[in-house]
Amino acid sequence: MNIGGTLIAGPAKGALKGNITVPGDKSMSHRSIMLGALADGVTRIEGFLPGDDNFATAAMFEAMGAKVTWLNEEKTALEVQGVGLYGLKEPENVLDAGNSGTAARLITGILAGQDFHSVMVGDASLHSRPMARVADPVRLMGAKIDGREGGNKMPLSIRGGKLKGMNFVSPVASAQVKSCVLLAGLFADGETTVTEPKATRDHTERMLPLFGQAVERVDAFTSKLQPCGQLTAPKDVVQIPADPSSATFFAVAASLVDGSDVVLNSIGINPRRDGWRRVMADMQANLTLETENTVGAEPVADIRVKSTTLQGMKVNPQDIPDAIDEFPVLFVAAALSKGTFVLDEAEELRVKESDRIATMVAALQACGADIEEKEDGAVIHGKPNLKGGVTVDAHGDHRIAMAMVVAAQKMDKEIRIENAAAIATSFPSFVDLAQNIGMNVRWDDV
Ligand code: S3P
Repeated sequence: MNIGGTLIAGPAKGALKGNITVPGDKSMSHRSIMLGALADGVTRIEGFLPGDDNFATAAMFEAMGAKVTWLNEEKTALEVQGVGLYGLKEPENVLDAGNSGTAARLITGILAGQDFHSVMVGDASLHSRPMARVADPVRLMGAKIDGREGGNKMPLSIRGGKLKGMNFVSPVASAQVKSCVLLAGLFADGETTVTEPKATRDHTERMLPLFGQAVERVDAFTSKLQPCGQLTAPKDVVQIPADPSSATFFAVAASLVDGSDVVLNSIGINPRRDGWRRVMADMQANLTLETENTVGAEPVADIRVKSTTLQGMKVNPQDIPDAIDEFPVLFVAAALSKGTFVLDEAEELRVKESDRIATMVAALQACGADIEEKEDGAVIHGKPNLKGGVTVDAHGDHRIAMAMVVAAQKMDKEIRIENAAAIATSFPSFVDLAQNIGMNVRWDDV
């Protein structure tokens, strides 16, 4: 896919130093808009991620009657004037989820409960991603959904209506699927229960109670929702903590570049998002939790990272959902470690914004890494540094582009990373923050 935007990156000119505040969490930013739009009253949100994915969510709810008012120029603070649980109106035009799987899949659950027709589209990457995983359960609850390949691919046409609660056992460990079904459960008659094969991020379960809707955590794998018929805007500001998925790029870069010492401020350490830290701890990374705190319903900490020699390891399959978005940059850590890194049971990586196993294997191999592709993961034999001096393709996937910028810091020669503009979907300030701590990266726009 050609989306443009070329980065020139590496090698690092010296140690990485400094204190970084990365932007707000993408998953929580989406959910804050969705729940704010469905609530009675005005929800105030701070720490919002001003990324294109989250703007797509905001625009879709504005098209259905919610009002979003930005409170600062950076678009990190906003108010959402909600329409109430049954107040959304039929959109006059198609809804556009852009590049965002989270927006498309969670909103499918909400649209399933609406007494109107809607059509949702996205970009070429989103149109290639599986949607049956959300279409199937909401059909079982009573919604009518159609789309290409029998409703497995977008555009999706959704005619919602009266839903019945259900006991859903998800075949896939996916917080998007779980959240879609729980959100549909808000509109259902009776209770909705979701059980997953492995525990996944629980931001929906943590945020709904802020809006007055209880969610019972039956055990680590099962969540139950008895709809109370109303969401209410919280009295307190909904605070979004810094995104651990964005922080990991700098944690890996600081681990790899000799002499580095970087502090990542107030990063979300929810155990369901903290798999990256468990994987890096097993790789013998030098990570220290400094001040620990709570932001909203989520635990956070300052994390200090110093450089060290990383070691190979085998990833525990239970940790995979907790680090699912971090594997591109963890592959980079592995490619520059000592020993062998093994990842299995991670086939979900093939249905992200790109096929992240194939794209990372191609990009790292082109730069001289020793990486072997497997159907459900990879085997990576680490090296002290990589050759570089080539052009690689990020395939319009934000996390591939940023991971390769990190890898480039340990290369003999700079690399060009094409189709990198998608960084704007999750981390528009990435290049500036990377430069601030001394990483060698710039846009090739002049
Ligand atoms: C997300 C869940 C994950 C993750 C995505 C965000 C969410 O997707 O990869 O970036 O906010 O619920 P899956 O649920 O498909 O694993």
